[in-house]
Amino acid sequence: MRPEFGHGSSSATDRRLNALLRHLSSSSSPMDSRDSISASPTSGFQNDSVFSHVVRGPEDPILGVTVAYNKDPSPNKLNLGVGAYRTEEGKPLVLNVVRKAEQQLVNDRSRIKEYLPIVGLAEFNKLSAKLIFGADSPAIRENRITTVQCLSGTGSLRVGAEFLAKHYHQRTIYIPLPTWGNHTKVFNLAGLSVKSYRYYDPATRGLNFQGLLEDLGSAPSGAIVLLHACAHNPTGVDPTLDQWERIRQLMRSKGLLPFFDSAYQGFASGSLDADAQSVRMFVADGGECLAAQSYAKNMGLYGERVGALSIVCKTADVASRVESQLKLVIRPMYSNPPIHGASIVAAILRDRNLYNEWTIELKAMADRIISMRHQLSDALRARSTPGDWSHIIKQIGMFTFTGLNSKQVAFMTKEYHIYMTSDGRISMAGLSSKTVPHLADAIHAAVTRVV
Ligand SMILES: Cc1ncc(COP(=O)(O)O)c(C=O)c1O
Repeated sequence: MRPEFGHGSSSATDRRLNALLRHLSSSSSPMDSRDSISASPTSGFQNDSVFSHVVRGPEDPILGVTVAYNKDPSPNKLNLGVGAYRTEEGKPLVLNVVRKAEQQLVNDRSRIKEYLPIVGLAEFNKLSAKLIFGADSPAIRENRITTVQCLSGTGSLRVGAEFLAKHYHQRTIYIPLPTWGNHTKVFNLAGLSVKSYRYYDPATRGLNFQGLLEDLGSAPSGAIVLLHACAHNPTGVDPTLDQWERIRQLMRSKGLLPFFDSAYQGFASGSLDADAQSVRMFVADGGECLAAQSYAKNMGLYGERVGALSIVCKTADVASRVESQLKLVIRPMYSNPPIHGASIVAAILRDRNLYNEWTIELKAMADRIISMRHQLSDALRARSTPGDWSHIIKQIGMFTFTGLNSKQVAFMTKEYHIYMTSDGRISMAGLSSKTVPHLADAIHAAVTRVV
């Protein structure tokens, strides 16, 4: 028992004396002296970590590009790796409409910080479903959709995958080749087995439609198929509406289950409705599907981690049972989602003026990206760079899949301090009128000097 001075008193002197006494008595207790040895920076115990066998993991192939970029001291360096929007001045952008919505939230003294329900903010979920499926969607009217707020697009994919691994009879998911690098890991970790279907044709730098139909045609009945709703990442190649219709017919005839990844609604064409057409086509036929939505790009809410998972079912009763099981997936994973980002989105989607303002800002981002495509294409033409670069204009969304090989990419990084993923994907959103000539010079040098 350690003596305590002034028991029950809170005087500062007593507290200091008690602290001193505890400190002095600690070095004489055998238990405590062992603690103090292990804490010593010179002790050999330091090397005996229970984690000493842990090997260093590789950097994430996409986020690792930024790590390398940050280390480069060159003033001309250019980061075209990460998929985040930049202004003409190369700066990250917080939308005006987001600032306004945040100000409203801050000014509202009635707002509290209690936990959200497991499925998130009810109004956010309702408005998110309306955004992707359309205000007049019969599936919404018939209450056949369950929507749960999740941690951005990634979290929505993960929750959907965990649900499927537990409750769906087919555990195989087909993903396009190539696809966003995280898909395989998200689905594998959730317990699904991942296979791929042909998507991109390097020869045409377009869609391998025939290969896609063949691969989905030979997938086992009931298999899950991951579809990028628009602005396919990394290729920027989307099926036409006619091709979507053929894909839909094939998938429905084989009972394949569509899982849409919608990370770029509004970002591809500048129109929220046009970019949701693929999803709406599949919902219009009355069949079932899943959709993961992200507000990272289209509202610039990257770090707020706001997204939603919707599962469209055949009946309202099934949808409500599905939701009860989604709760059982979410509760042990992160209990319930964060409130701030979803409140921003709800404030914007519910208010006609803010919504209109958002669509204008969204279109401006999409237009700037499209204008970068034209500027880069013109710059390569002006340099008579060998090759057909028309795909820069034909591809859509944040990325251009340049067709540059990994050696050419390494050359551009070494000689021109341009950073991008080794598959030759560049983020058009990271470019500006000022940096286009530097990139065009680098591409020209790469294709003329490196094979
Ligand atoms: C195709 C695709 N899906 C999902 C995501 C997930 O993004 P987030 O989790 O930031 O919403 C991304 C982000 O780059 C993406 O490109």
